[in-house]
Amino acid sequence: MSATTDTDRPRMSCLDELPRELFIGGKWSPANDGRLLTSVCPSTGETLATVAHAHATDVARAVAAARAAGQPGSRWHRMSPAARARLLHRVGDLILAHADRLALLDCLDNGKPLRVARAGDVPAAAAVFHYMAGWPGRLNGENASLYTASPERHVALTMPEPVGVVAAIIPWNFPLYMAAAKVAPALAAGCTVVLKPAEQTPLSALLLGQLVREAGVPAGVLNVVTGDGDTGAALAAQPGVDKVTFTGSTEVGRSIVQAAAADFRRVTLELGGKSPSIVFADVDLARAMDGAAHAIFYNQGETCVAGSRLYVQRPVFDEVVAGIRERAAAIRLGDGLDQDTDMGPLISAEHRARVLSYLRSARDGGARVTGGQAPDSPGFFCTPAVVTGADPQAPVAREEVFGPVLVAQAFDTVEEAVALANGSPYGLAAGVFTRDLGLAHQVGRRLRAGTVWVNSWHVLDPALPFGGMRESGWGREMGRAGVDAFLETKTLINDLGTRPWGAVPAPR
Ligand code: NAI
Ligand code: MG
Repeated sequence: MSATTDTDRPRMSCLDELPRELFIGGKWSPANDGRLLTSVCPSTGETLATVAHAHATDVARAVAAARAAGQPGSRWHRMSPAARARLLHRVGDLILAHADRLALLDCLDNGKPLRVARAGDVPAAAAVFHYMAGWPGRLNGENASLYTASPERHVALTMPEPVGVVAAIIPWNFPLYMAAAKVAPALAAGCTVVLKPAEQTPLSALLLGQLVREAGVPAGVLNVVTGDGDTGAALAAQPGVDKVTFTGSTEVGRSIVQAAAADFRRVTLELGGKSPSIVFADVDLARAMDGAAHAIFYNQGETCVAGSRLYVQRPVFDEVVAGIRERAAAIRLGDGLDQDTDMGPLISAEHRARVLSYLRSARDGGARVTGGQAPDSPGFFCTPAVVTGADPQAPVAREEVFGPVLVAQAFDTVEEAVALANGSPYGLAAGVFTRDLGLAHQVGRRLRAGTVWVNSWHVLDPALPFGGMRESGWGREMGRAGVDAFLETKTLINDLGTRPWGAVPAPR
């Protein structure tokens, strides 16, 4: 553990003048019943800030503001694609202009290393806005030809239309980035949004609301309601919401689908994972060890795509696992503000208790566990853990732990590796480490995962579709697919009057 000294000054400055109320219709207002939500800094366990806690009636206000802002005749509805693109660009620029402060907010609120937030989360959030700014001018429909009628008879067009009011519910692991990943494509498509950040990490979303307004995005186009799971449930079920886009647990995803079934509102879900990395014996061993360690330990293991299952070909199993254990032991835990910190704390005391209970039951089941200790110090730290010899059916080997816990197992054949990797109800990401590119492609095609990384991990890009198969969710974010997720296709058919009404077409 690194010491934390002189941390008060930056803490104070980034919270100065930070809005802490609900951002609805372009204005800041308290919750109707005055309730507050407390955000805790996971590095210290201390209270960081209190913000408004939105109740169902506040959610209704926010959805009404979003509906009004996107109505036909509204400024947003009439805006040219060029103007919309400029606004998105400006938001991206403002994120970069406020990068230090945004990174500090996510560091304090989430616990992640400041260095990582500043080099990773914040530029990634800006890049999503900059990339999505390219779409408004390119969302063309088609001039369609009918299959069953003469071309003289009709003119038919398809036209993309915004799906409407979007409820965006996000988790705490990448607070600013997740907000950007939902808001930017929705705005590119011409939708309006009510964003609900996670109760653990509400702060950067509030600053984002302010920056979006500063960029000149019309009032009500983005609304931010801070609150907990009840706030999220109220938002997902609120009449007037046309689409819910959610990232979080599979369990909550299921409840969102149930709520959406009432009126068939659209749903995109990015859920959990138990992503496998497969290391073949031909690999550059040091690179594979670095890669597999990065896959699981990046962001404290609190990533939906964490490479939490490791399958290593038997001849190199012991060496690879030993190398990863060494790398795990060298990771410096500490306060996110400390420049030397590689890994911050877990998000909360409850979450750490959950992670530790997986390790305890693995040990009780006879597995060998290295790491996975909770240091006797403030904050919710947990040292990175590597588990071998676990029963493949044990919870630690099958369930999403969402912490720095790697479960390793040996395999012999390609067939076996593919079967092991696919032996999970999840299908978010997977990785293949080998020098044999033909093998990498063969295996990559057979893996049931939305993203397959070859000799890489955690490479996400606004241009590349991202999402899960099976219990990892529905739909894709990013790329063209990510914009389409916020569009409906309308088909407009015009009969040119070249034949009498109701004439039976000649047989063809
Ligand atoms: P969660 O799914 O409960 O929370 C995510 C978001 O959904 C938060 O904004 C929360 O307020 C909201 N929410 C909670 N209950 C809701 C409901 N009934 N209706 C609508 N919104 C609701 O996740 P939580 O409790 O923070 O973490 C639990 C586990 O979920 C983690 O241990 C991890 O396994 C998984 N998870 C996966 C994430 C991912 O990126 N795929 C992110 C966060 C958690
Ligand atoms: Mg917090």
